[in-house]
Amino acid sequence: MDAECLECMSCVQPVLSAAEEESCGEGDDEIVDNETGGLQQDQLPETLQLWGDEKDIICDIEPPLKPKAWVPTVYACFDKEQYWFAGYQITIQESIEGYAGVVWHAAKAVCHYLEENREELNLKNKKVLELGSGTGLVSIVACILGAEVTATDLPDCLGNLRYNLSRNTKGKSLLHKPEVRELVWGQDLEANFPKSSCLYDYILAADVVYHHMYPDELLETMKHLCQPGTELIWANKFRFNTDYDFLSRFNMLFETELLAEFPDLEVKIFKAKHKAG
Ligand SMILES: C[S@@+](CC[C@H](N)C(=O)[O-])C[C@H]1O[C@@H](n2cnc3c(N)ncnc32)[C@H](O)[C@@H]1O
Repeated sequence: MDAECLECMSCVQPVLSAAEEESCGEGDDEIVDNETGGLQQDQLPETLQLWGDEKDIICDIEPPLKPKAWVPTVYACFDKEQYWFAGYQITIQESIEGYAGVVWHAAKAVCHYLEENREELNLKNKKVLELGSGTGLVSIVACILGAEVTATDLPDCLGNLRYNLSRNTKGKSLLHKPEVRELVWGQDLEANFPKSSCLYDYILAADVVYHHMYPDELLETMKHLCQPGTELIWANKFRFNTDYDFLSRFNMLFETELLAEFPDLEVKIFKAKHKAG
C-alpha cells in the first residue's frame, strides 16, 4: 500500500465515551467543574494546570467573569485516537506529556511498514525494544505481531505509555505481555541494559530525531543496543538540517539501508546493523 493509503489506515478519529459525548454539548461548564472541582489554576494538581503561555493568553484576552465557567482548552482537547493495524482496533489515549503525548507520523509509517512486511520482517517471538515510545502505538503493533516488546521512554512519560499498552494488549491472547521501562538516552546504559543479557532482535525508533539536545546520547544508545545480530529500524520525518546531520552520523556508525519512503508524510524508514569500530 502507498503513503496515501497510510493516511486512510491511520486516520485519526476521536473516540468519545458515552459520558464524554454527553458532556460535549451544553454541559461543557459542568465538565470543567468536574475536572477542576471548581478550583483555581494554582490550586489544581500540576498535571491539570495550563502551561504558562496558554494561561497568559487566556487571561490577556478577557478576564473570566465567573471563574467556574472558565474552559480549560489545553487538557480538554487531549482525546483518544483510534487506529487499525494487523487486524486490531487500537485506541490511543493522548496526554499532556509534551512530545510523548501524541502519535507522530513516523510511528504510523512504522506500524504500516511492520504490518505490510510481516512475512519478511517477522516479529513473532522476537525480542524488540522501542526507543522513545511516546504513546506506545509502535510497541502495541509489534506486540500484536507476536514480539516480546520492551517499550521505553523518559520517566515522566511511562504512565500513559503503560496505560496504552495495557488497554490494547490485555485479554487479546497475544504471545507476550509487553514490558515498559525507563530509558533515558545515554544514561546508565550498561547498568540498566547490559549487553550480555539485553540482546534484542530489533530496536525500533520512530520520530526520535527532531529539535532536541540529545543527538549524541541517542546515537550512543542506538550503538549500545544494536549489537551483532540486531536490526535497528528507525523512521523519521525530516524537518531540519540537524535531522540530516544526524542521518550522516547514523550512516557512518552503522551498516544502513533505506527501507521505505512516505513522501506525503516526509517520513523515511532506515534499517541499520552493527558496524565494527
Ligand atoms: C517526537 S516523540 C515520538 C514519540 C513516538 N515514538 C511517536 O512516533 O509517536 C519523541 C519521543 O522521544 C522521547 N525522548 C525525548 N528525549 C528523550 C531522552 N533524552 N531519553 C529518552 N527518551 C526521550 C520523548 O519522550 C518522546 O516520547
